[in-house]
This record gives sequence, C-alpha cells and structure tokens, in this order.
Amino acid sequence: MAMVCLSDFEAYARKYLPKIAWDFFAAGADDCSTRDENIRAYKRIHFRPRMLRDVSLMDIRTKLLGTEISFPVGIAPTGFHQLAWPDGEKSTARAARAMNTCYIASTYSTCTLEEISAASPGGLCWFQLYIHRNRAVSQQLVQRAEALGFQGLVLTADLPYTGKRRDDLRNGFRLPPHMKLKNLEGAFEVCEISCLDPSVTWNDIYWLRSLTHLPIIIKGILTKEDAELAVRHGVEGIIVSNHGGRQLDGVPATIDALVEVVEAVQGRVEVYLDGGIRKGSDILKALALGAKCVFIGRPALWGLAYKGEEGLQDVLRILQEEFRLSMALAG
Ligand code: FNR
Repeated sequence: MAMVCLSDFEAYARKYLPKIAWDFFAAGADDCSTRDENIRAYKRIHFRPRMLRDVSLMDIRTKLLGTEISFPVGIAPTGFHQLAWPDGEKSTARAARAMNTCYIASTYSTCTLEEISAASPGGLCWFQLYIHRNRAVSQQLVQRAEALGFQGLVLTADLPYTGKRRDDLRNGFRLPPHMKLKNLEGAFEVCEISCLDPSVTWNDIYWLRSLTHLPIIIKGILTKEDAELAVRHGVEGIIVSNHGGRQLDGVPATIDALVEVVEAVQGRVEVYLDGGIRKGSDILKALALGAKCVFIGRPALWGLAYKGEEGLQDVLRILQEEFRLSMALAG
C-alpha cells in the first residue's frame, strides 16, 4: 500500500502492533476528550490565503535555540520505542539526524543515552527529564546527557502522577520483561513510574540550573500565568503541551492554548507546541499562531512501527512536503 499521509501509518500501526502496545501509544486520560480535541481543534481554524505572491522558492528551515533544523517539526519525547521497533530509540535518533531535525529523548527510553547519542553523531538531541524522588538519579541523568552532547534539557511539568488511562489499566500494561528503562538501570535500582517526585515546584528550575549549562525548556505549559512564571524562572523555551491528552482530561487543545502563551511571552523565550499535529497544514496553523516549531509524538511511533528509522523518515518527509505545499498555497 502507498503511504501518502500520516493516517496511513496510524492504520498500519493499529493493524500490526500487539494490542497492548497500540493501546499504550493511543491512550488518552479518562474518556480521551482532550486527546481528541487536540486534533479536532485544527479543523476549526481556517486560513486567509493570499494569491500571486511568487512561491517558486521557499525556505522552510528554522532554528531551535540557535541550531538550524531542516523544517519546523521535531520529535516529541515518548517512552518505550522498543514496543514499536526492535532498535527502539536508536532508530528514532538515526531518523531525526537523517532528516536534520531535533529528537527529544525521553527519560523512559528503552535504549541508553549513550546508545542514542552514538546512533546519531552530530545530530541535534535534547534530553527530557522527569524528576525522581531520589534527586541523585535525576542529577546523574542530566549530567550524563550534557557530557554526551545533548544540547537541551526538557523538563516535563505535567506529570506529578500518571493520568488515568483506562485501556492500560484494563490491559494491565507493563513493559515486557526483555525491555528495560535503560537509563535508570545500573547505578540505581530499577525505578518504577511511582518514583517520580510529585513535590516538584518552580524553585526546582533553579536546582536544575545549578546542575547544568544546558538550556532548559519546560514542557506542559497551557496558561499565560505559567508561561510568565516560566520566563521569570529563566527557562529558554516553552513547549505548549497537554501530553497528548494523557494527563488532565478536560484541558484545552494545545493549538487553542498556544495564543495566550505566545501573547504572555512576548518573544522573550521560544515557544513550541506539540499535540495533534497530523498534517502539513496543522504545522502552518501552529506557526501562524506563534509557535517557532512543533513536535510529533504518536506519529513518530507509527513511523517506527511501520519500518523503523525508514518509516519515521517517511513520516517526517510527508510532513515536510505537506508543510511546503500548504505554505505555497497559502501564499
Ligand atoms: C508521551 N509523552 C511523553 N512526554 C514526555 O515528556 N515524556 C515521555 O516519556 C512521554 N511519553 C509518551 C508516551 C506516549 C506513548 C505518548 C503518546 C506520549 C507526551 C509527548 O511528548 C507529546 O506531548 C504528545 O505525544 C504529543 O501529542 P501527539 O503528537 O501524540 O498528538
């Protein structure tokens, strides 16, 4: 079958992944209103296209905190890539490097940070951190990432506890025994998700700052109040995100929350968005409303499930072509 749009990869993944893995990737919290709203919201936004503007040459490159990427789409942090493809995050890192874009590697990777950085020498990788109750675990991870050449630290702020995902509970979801949360092995006892620290506050940004020279990007912001706090605490970037609708059900679609964040920030830090990006025109809408770049979560997993790094490159290439076409048609 020809793969022409991201829905084709979604259909493939749904058909061929084991049900428990598909359900984990697809899951939203509660009755999935926010997960679905992330996608529906784009359909309510319309372009005012301009004509006859010579679109024969277009430059779709952008910069993330000064580093150039080939187009404004990166890969959001998601856990457990070996559930989608045997090489897991190594394949993800290779695909991102081949497409010259940014990959945010999750704390919950099934490959080590060392394997990820070795798989994509010179590639732009950021490390996503969940803060653990045992702060030494987090400190060690941050410092390992920096030493390995990761170029940004993404602090996920919206997961003091894991949202209630019904299918995962029904399936009794667990990682299969041959897969490990590789970054938490070794020096430390294997840490389960319950090891995350729910007492994290804004002051912990200062603690992170004391550990690393990396720029800090905060992920999971949805309001102007928190955007202002993020800027005041000195972060370099904000990812407007509702965790793909997997945390608090009932929060707005990210594309709807974007505008107030962009207005509050007033260009003081870079603002990015993830959630519900499925087409090139979605990317254009997010950029038109003030995002510097967007990130894809589930579509990257569908690409991996289809054909590993090649499949993920296909997903990115399709988005790139659709984005270019939307820009041209919008004038
Ligand atoms: C996630 N997300 C996520 N976020 C994060 O900061 N750390 C993580 O480990 C994970 N893990 C994770 C697993 C799976 C299976 C999904 C679907 C999502 C959230 C992710 O970074 C991103 O916010 C959303 O996936 C974006 O929405 P879309 O693109 O999936 O609609």
